[in-house]
Amino acid sequence: MSATFSLGISILLLLVAFSSSTSGKDDVVDEEKHLRFPPNFVFGAATAAYQIEGAWNVSGKGESTWDRLVHEHPDRIYNGDTGDVAANSYYQYKEDVAILKKLGFKSYRFSISWPRILPTGFANKINAEGIQYYHNLIDELKDNGIEPMLTLYHWDHPQVLEDMGGWLNDEMVYWFGDYASIIFREYGSKVKKFVTINEPKAICKNGYSLGIHAPGKRLSGLGEYMCIHNVLKSHAVAYRIYDSEFRSKFHGEVGVLVDVMAYMPENFEFDAAAETAFQFNIGWTMHPIFSKEGDYPPAMKQLVANRSKAEGFVKSRLPVFDEYWVNFIRGSADFLAVNHYTSRLVVSGTMGQIPSHEHDQGVREIIDSFWKSSASNWLKVVPVGFRYILVQLAKNYGNPPMYITENGVSDLGTLNDDDRIYYYREYLKQMLIAIYEDGVDIRGYYLWSLLDNFEWNAGYRERFGIVFVDYEDPNRQRMLKKSASWWQQVIAAGKIETN
Ligand SMILES: *[C@@H]1O[C@H](CO)[C@@H](O)[C@H](O)[C@H]1NC(C)=O
Ligand SMILES: *[C@@H]1O[C@H](CO)[C@@H](O)[C@H](O)[C@H]1NC(C)=O
Repeated sequence: MSATFSLGISILLLLVAFSSSTSGKDDVVDEEKHLRFPPNFVFGAATAAYQIEGAWNVSGKGESTWDRLVHEHPDRIYNGDTGDVAANSYYQYKEDVAILKKLGFKSYRFSISWPRILPTGFANKINAEGIQYYHNLIDELKDNGIEPMLTLYHWDHPQVLEDMGGWLNDEMVYWFGDYASIIFREYGSKVKKFVTINEPKAICKNGYSLGIHAPGKRLSGLGEYMCIHNVLKSHAVAYRIYDSEFRSKFHGEVGVLVDVMAYMPENFEFDAAAETAFQFNIGWTMHPIFSKEGDYPPAMKQLVANRSKAEGFVKSRLPVFDEYWVNFIRGSADFLAVNHYTSRLVVSGTMGQIPSHEHDQGVREIIDSFWKSSASNWLKVVPVGFRYILVQLAKNYGNPPMYITENGVSDLGTLNDDDRIYYYREYLKQMLIAIYEDGVDIRGYYLWSLLDNFEWNAGYRERFGIVFVDYEDPNRQRMLKKSASWWQQVIAAGKIETN
């Protein structure tokens, strides 16, 4: 079947080559090269603890901010869904690993539930059952030839820490450091790639400004800035701990993760507006780490200071790093982990409430009505945006080694997920162009997601898996979707098939 398939492709290419001019022939050759992945390119799949594990109140686990939100505010979650059981991966992780292996994935990105390791929030009590669970998962992966990539924090911190302010409390920086130390010490001999904090901007905007994610705080214009400030410090503390205590022993790497949309000018008149959007949304967390001078982007500091003043605040709503922290944060990454789904067009204007990070930018984001939709209203299918943002990241930040740590699309649940295959094929093509034409240093790609999972406030409605999970079934039966078979072929061939 697959032999016939590739023969068909060769004949097709031959026909195209013969029927076109000389330059057309070169295009075909280029095109073919552009469909092949570089040697040693890492193919992986990604998940997150709260979205798949379940087992929320057993085996010594403490309560997380997401446990609290879904139980106290079912009204804020689609259908009142919870992650209490989710895909039940705490018990069914061996099935997940077997699927990864069958499909040919060489790496798996998962996250650790902080309160499963530290039920009191603090390092005074380490939960042995929690520690053991992740050893079991990691061993199962390695026994099957799959390299773990471990995310320390994917949005579910201990509720007790939130009761003390969570990411708005400076002490969180040290609580996170203590937790990170334990994780590095415990798993460092087996795990060589760590990501510290998943999607800082999403945590801080959704959790502390808009209040649509845990912990559900609505502190627009202040909360998101204070939160990012402490998230950046926490990331750097974890990085420096690895550097000084563990690197020489374990020889692993610690990366920083950024969640990015592409901000493309609606037309050339709006180049400056698009640049401002880039600095506000991406420079916010990347400039402090990857720029030569460190700290927040100068344009951002000025704009927030000006707006704050106009609004009658005594000082800027954007907190200030002193020189010690500027230096401590700068350079704190061995690689850049990139989560990307979609794009926006940027024009000048304003949006968002006053005060807010959105409003401070002085730009307006719009969605092109021609862009293909998904099941998530924020997620439009814009393949060219992927190349655009990859090039921009490389240019602005010295072309660091990058891993795409999330990319994928939602639907409402079907095994025949042709729209998902379309999305992956077109986005991967753009990524390969960024590698070959633009020289962007991309080492691997983790699709989002292995399983249909608890999609935060969208509950189980919006599905991102290449594997269908039956949430009506107490056994949470897993079924491969058409996109899973498509991936199996792509990985085996080391290239994208053209239809
Ligand atoms: C755990 O939570 C479930 C609901 O998800 C509840 O039925 C059960 O009684 C709880 N178990 C314990 C040990 O508290
Ligand atoms: C901020 O205000 C100062 C003084 O009014 C002005 O010179 C500067 O251009 C403003 N900066 C921005 C980015 O608006």
